[in-house]
Amino acid sequence: MSQFRVTRTLPEDATGAALRADVLAGLTSTPKWLAPKWFYDARGSELFEEITALPEYYPTRAEREILADRAGSIAAATGARTLVELGSGSSEKTRILLDALTGLRAYVPVDVSESALTQAGEAIVAERPGLQVHALIADFTGGLTLPETPGPRLVAFLGGTIGNLLPDERAAFLAAVRALLSPGDALLLGTDLVKDEELLVRAYDDAAGVTAQFNKNVLSVINRELEADFAPAAFEHVALWNPEREWIEMRLRSRAAQTVKVQALDLAVDFADGEELRTEVSAKFRREGVRAELAAAGLELAHWWTDGERRFALSLSVAG
Ligand code: SAH
Ligand code: AVI
Repeated sequence: MSQFRVTRTLPEDATGAALRADVLAGLTSTPKWLAPKWFYDARGSELFEEITALPEYYPTRAEREILADRAGSIAAATGARTLVELGSGSSEKTRILLDALTGLRAYVPVDVSESALTQAGEAIVAERPGLQVHALIADFTGGLTLPETPGPRLVAFLGGTIGNLLPDERAAFLAAVRALLSPGDALLLGTDLVKDEELLVRAYDDAAGVTAQFNKNVLSVINRELEADFAPAAFEHVALWNPEREWIEMRLRSRAAQTVKVQALDLAVDFADGEELRTEVSAKFRREGVRAELAAAGLELAHWWTDGERRFALSLSVAG
């Protein structure tokens, strides 16, 4: 018998309180910023799925290729009976792992997007009789408590989402993930790789403008949740490569001098003409950097697999 359970690990208003705190901090800073986790309401999750099918957005296809090639090796190396997936979204590529992990008893998808989580969880439960699916609505940077499920556990963090954390956040996140692992548990980490600037920028500034809509969706989230009056058309989507930090930055550039009111915060925010608001970083990695960041968290890189064009990597670390 399949089972599907959804647990909210945060109190009902915790998301609202965190959004208020982040928006206040980010919009009163110089330069202004917003955290990328706020893109993902139901519309943001749909737009991300559209992005994954764009001709310019290679990471999803590259990671799918690696998973298809290596799922058997991942299953053999981990013997996982529980798969925990952080930032699982639609769980679309995950099905390759679910098929390969023959001893799997439980799947624990974790995401802030309730709509993506419940849609994916319900579909997987219907497809896989016998698999226990325990979805967690939770912030993976906020101290996770995992349900009691059989070990060994494989924790998967796919898509390159680790690149959306800033370096300090990544270090704290990896240390927290390490603390969740018992001996024999493993971490499967997807990282997009440094490559030609033009290919990178195109992946974040597609011709159809879907990434621009995704970027501006954060303004709609703030309008709805915090009674703000952002006019998305008054901002321009910007994607640029920062060669020192080796990350893509997405920004929203104000098309004119304007004042935006955020009623729930009793805040008026002035934007100068051309002023930019940073909405996301998407760091790109090299093998040595990934190895060093894992090692700093007490994890040893055991396998490093790339797609044929070396655009994306999956690494596996097994906890000692
Ligand atoms: N893993 C999927 C989805 C990647 S999109 C893939 O590879 O295609 C990033 C996902 O992470 C989204 O579903 C988003 O809602 C989720 N997410 C972003 N920040 C998060 C956070 N701090 N805690 C939990 N989930 C988060
Ligand atoms: C979820 N994350 C890995 C995506 C990325 O590529 O950084 C989010 C995204 N932003 C713009 N396009 C896709």
